[in-house]
Amino acid sequence: MNGRTIGSFVPGLEGVVATMTRLSMVDGEAGRLVIAGFPVEELAGRATFEETLYLLWNDALPDAGQLARLKGDLAARRALPEATTDLLGAAAAEGVPVMDALRMAAGTLGAQEGDDRDDALRAVAAFPTVVAAYWRLSRGEDPIEPDPELPHAANYLHMLFGEVPSDERARALETYLVAACDHGMNSSTFAARVIVSTRSDFVSAVTGAVGALKGPLHGGAPGPALDMVFEIGKAERAEPYLREKLESGGRLMGFGHRIYKARDPRADVLAEAAGRLYAADADKDLYKLAIAVERTAVRLLAEYKPGRDLYTNVEYYTALVLHGLGLPSELFTPTFTASRVVGWTAHCFEQRELDRIIRPQSEYVGAQDRAWVPLGER
Ligand code: ACO
Repeated sequence: MNGRTIGSFVPGLEGVVATMTRLSMVDGEAGRLVIAGFPVEELAGRATFEETLYLLWNDALPDAGQLARLKGDLAARRALPEATTDLLGAAAAEGVPVMDALRMAAGTLGAQEGDDRDDALRAVAAFPTVVAAYWRLSRGEDPIEPDPELPHAANYLHMLFGEVPSDERARALETYLVAACDHGMNSSTFAARVIVSTRSDFVSAVTGAVGALKGPLHGGAPGPALDMVFEIGKAERAEPYLREKLESGGRLMGFGHRIYKARDPRADVLAEAAGRLYAADADKDLYKLAIAVERTAVRLLAEYKPGRDLYTNVEYYTALVLHGLGLPSELFTPTFTASRVVGWTAHCFEQRELDRIIRPQSEYVGAQDRAWVPLGER
């Protein structure tokens, strides 16, 4: 029943319009993504993380005073409450995976019941602190305190690695965080909106959204694209490796997309960011290899899967950018979360304004006239 309508039931709600939003528009046929009015290639690479957050929450770019206030509000909420730190310590001792630890910690971040802006600020400000602190704790290292003087993206790298990053590195991460901040009615965003639609709080909404994002069909599998590049190892091995994979019915990781039937515009933005990062500060041979693998893969996909329109997706260059920044693949999905929480909270504000519970119907297909059989007679 995958993807087919049965009566009025649409499995996966495919094609069903669940809300109106001014936050982002995904045009898969044209390969176009508009975020709060800006084509993604106009915004990412130019906007800072904080400007993007302000834009999504307020539908306008901030002036200098508004931006300074938002920066201060975020920086003041980066440090974790003691309950969160204790929980992370206990989770690290148990070897809990990072996304599960983040989901557990997310639920501890609310402070003042009923203050949506404060809850939203706390989630956006503290997610990177949770991820960095947990990653260090799980390696037996002490967490590094957030530095309120650093911008959001630079502070994340600082809390992970213990040094203030170069502008190039901070900019590469920021480009990723902006490019991935919102993407239409994806599953985690929908989950957040459903929760807020019951007049529940934002902390519950982002906690539920983390749970939705961690699944492998959504945000939970960005590592394999890079694994494939590592396995190939040398540009001249790309063609035989990829041909063999396609001939045996395998899928090339980092290519194809359910919605984009043209190149994913975020892949272009991140390809540029990766180009700058690797030229300045990372393994240039790996970058050259990744470009060679991409070219060969796109050519062979057109040959083996004609008419399927398979192009590079966002995961391919995400993996390259985050790897170039020194992040291990276990931090790729948590870092995606630190970006998408911008979109989640913005959608929560929108949903709050709409104030209409999301309560679809179900079609009952079970029996209707069973007669009760006492236990001894079954
Ligand atoms: N490599 C080889 N063939 C592919 C690939 C790929 N990466 N993607 C799709 N195809 C082929 C399928 O085999 C199928 O061929 P067939 O009709 O001859 O059987 C055809 O293209 C259509 O495939 P579907 O599975 O129907 O396409 P769908 O839109 O459902 O798939 C998906 C999207 C799951 C992303 C797919 O392209 C894929 O598996 N890609 C590799 C994994 C990957 O990169 N995942 C990250 C996605 S990015 C993101 O989700 C944000």
